[in-house]
Amino acid sequence: MPITRQACIAQDSDDPLAHTRDRFALPEGTIYLDGNSLGALPRGVRARMDDVIGREWGRDLIASWNSADWYGAPARVGAKLAPILGAEPDEVTITDSISVNLFKLLVAAARMRPGRREILAEAGNFPSDNHIVESAARMLGLAARFVPAGEIAGAVTRDTAVATLSHVNYRSAAMQDMGAVTGAIHRAGALVVWDLAHSSGAVALDLTGSSADFAVGCGYKYLNGGPGAPSHVFVARRHQAALDQPLTGWFGHADPFRFDDEFARADGMRAALCSTPPMLSLLAFEAALDAFEDVEMRDLAAKGRALCDLFVALHDERLARFGTTLASSRDGSMRGSHVSVRHPEGFGVVQALIRRGIVGDFRKPDAMRFGFAPLYLRCVDVYDAVTAMEKVFEHEAWRDLEPAGAGAVT
Ligand SMILES: Cc1ncc(COP(=O)(O)O)c(C=O)c1O
Repeated sequence: MPITRQACIAQDSDDPLAHTRDRFALPEGTIYLDGNSLGALPRGVRARMDDVIGREWGRDLIASWNSADWYGAPARVGAKLAPILGAEPDEVTITDSISVNLFKLLVAAARMRPGRREILAEAGNFPSDNHIVESAARMLGLAARFVPAGEIAGAVTRDTAVATLSHVNYRSAAMQDMGAVTGAIHRAGALVVWDLAHSSGAVALDLTGSSADFAVGCGYKYLNGGPGAPSHVFVARRHQAALDQPLTGWFGHADPFRFDDEFARADGMRAALCSTPPMLSLLAFEAALDAFEDVEMRDLAAKGRALCDLFVALHDERLARFGTTLASSRDGSMRGSHVSVRHPEGFGVVQALIRRGIVGDFRKPDAMRFGFAPLYLRCVDVYDAVTAMEKVFEHEAWRDLEPAGAGAVT
């Protein structure tokens, strides 16, 4: 029996997260399947930014570092995010970017394992991660070794100081078993830094239960913090006292306003900070997290999985005949909240879809990525997106497009 639009609408009416869609200002006529790259705008952010700009910055000026507790914002927002990560409030802070935080944590972790000779990392991870791995290893005089994510647990040795990998791969959405992989890394006496870029706010996480050591994650994807929103850092409580990260800026100083010539590391997660936070972005991110209020992470994960499963079923039913192949697992327990589909004309298909109001993205050489953000997408959106895609294939609509310029956004 083919899947019908009516059946999708019926499934939406049983959705325990149906109400969270109204928390977003979604553009009319757009089905947004790129929340894995840049999340949609939560409604509350605009009013909060008006207040931050008009009152906190415009009127109260520098007093807001105290009166509006700007100074405490990295820790306060970290504590607000912590339950979404399955972490304790004092184990998370908000700062810098993923790449910068990865650098800080890799060096800090390697310093906790002196004498070991390598950093082990995921081959095929997001390139920025592995550029950072290479540079950190070079700086520390360590080797950098790369193996596929699924082989990290078997490849770790007593020479590995730290291993790093994505929990959900940015291209395929392949999801690792965080507890099992962390356990294997620990049995070799090494530490792990998880990249949660495609996990935070998209799937259920349990950093505490998985005994994770360190993690970095993204504010601007499924957490909807806005373009360039600051990243988050997790350091397990047991490692905080020994955290010796290399970017020893004044915000990580125990008493920054004493202006001491000598560096004295702050306690707790403040030791992970370096510089003055980007306050507007940080406060926009804080407001964006309100969209997660009263959301059970298991409901969120189940919904993301259901949307992806529906897309996979509709793909098989209506798109595979055009020569598409799935680049993501069919098993929802091993997949994040996006699905990648390969086709030689993938770039043109994505561009033709964007012109029809269906926004996905493309990763070279031939992968179309569709992100299913559980807070604001419905089954009927998935159905309508696949219907549009089927038409694009039927009419080979990519042939009508202008050739892409050198700077085309993919
Ligand atoms: C898996 C992964 N890691 C790292 C990054 C880079 O993040 P940032 O620009 O915050 O350094 C991204 C960006 O999309 C990503 O997807």
